[in-house]
Amino acid sequence: MSLLSIRDLRTEFQSPSGIARAVDGVSFDVEPGEIFGIVGESGCGKSATCRSILRLFGGAAARIAGGQILLDGVGDLAAMPERQLAQVRGRDAAFIFQDPLTALNPTMKVGKQIAEVILRHRKVGRAEARAAALQLLRDVQVTSPERRLEAYPHELSGGLRQRVVIAMALALRPRLIIADEPTTALDVTVQDQILRLLKERRDSLGTSIILITHDLGVVSQICDRMAVMYAGRLVETGRVREVLDAPSHPYTRALLAALPGQVGRDRALTPIEGAPPSLIAPPPGCRFAPRCAHAVARCTLGDPPPLAPRAGAAPGHLDACILDEVSDAAA
Ligand SMILES: Nc1ncnc2c1ncn2[C@@H]1O[C@H](COP(=O)(O)OP(=O)(O)OP(=O)(O)O)[C@@H](O)[C@H]1O
Ligand code: SF4
Ligand SMILES: [Mg+2]
Repeated sequence: MSLLSIRDLRTEFQSPSGIARAVDGVSFDVEPGEIFGIVGESGCGKSATCRSILRLFGGAAARIAGGQILLDGVGDLAAMPERQLAQVRGRDAAFIFQDPLTALNPTMKVGKQIAEVILRHRKVGRAEARAAALQLLRDVQVTSPERRLEAYPHELSGGLRQRVVIAMALALRPRLIIADEPTTALDVTVQDQILRLLKERRDSLGTSIILITHDLGVVSQICDRMAVMYAGRLVETGRVREVLDAPSHPYTRALLAALPGQVGRDRALTPIEGAPPSLIAPPPGCRFAPRCAHAVARCTLGDPPPLAPRAGAAPGHLDACILDEVSDAAA
């Protein structure tokens, strides 16, 4: 059984110009011990998808308009009252934001902040929570951890702050960690260390991780399966090797074609020609059609194509293109 099953998720943002359907019918599963990567251009709904899981919209006028978020043994998070969901946060699933400062209280020493997470969920005393916080800082390889416990967030470097946030995310040993571009703001060496840390956690404890990233090199290195998102929908999903080595959706192919050389390290997504459509009034049919070199008349009719397997594709490798075959000529 999957640890997480997202079914037909729809999330809307109210904006002055109308309702943006940031997540519009997204379904995917995350298995126990799996690292699942999500990639796609800026504004395609990656964060909205992941923030929906724990309803962490940070004050934005957002709501889950439909679908299910089934967490094994816990239930449908989409239908859960806020009070109950507050118990799930941190305990069953934890979120790591791109900017660690969003997750930290600037007026509280980091040791106390980590201890608070433990005290909120476990029946332990202050001294025990503090000892656990110290151990967590050691676990995430913070140097001089005793001293760091007494520091305020602004006294730490960006890399150290993100380690503190990860320590808080790991504090209750959640089965799922959702990391939204956790290393984008950090330099390359620190990025590598942080990603290794997350991977080690998966390897040692079987923690599942959803990782949003702009870097296909990161996906290639540490993810097991991945999804490519476009304009509020998934357009391709499958095992990383299959999607990157044999991409079948024209959007994925265009993304990969825009990359110089092989997918190695530091392969940030390069913009492809044209702009993604409005999420307030998306075009009919396939949302990629205005930019797709393969588009035919029927691409722009009806509902967007659903994810489906292609003849001969590896099990679980799905894409959302109506063409039976996508030739290389126009890719
Ligand atoms: N605070 C907000 N208010 C109104 N609309 C929003 C807000 N945040 C997101 N949206 C809408 O949701 C869409 C998806 O945003 P989201 O943040 O999920 O994109 P993303 O894929 O994470 O992009 P990025 O790579 O830049 O982080 C946006 O294009 C926008 O239409
Ligand atoms: S459905 Fe049509 S427009 Fe969309 S990706 Fe396939 S060929 Fe391109
Ligand atoms: Mg985002």
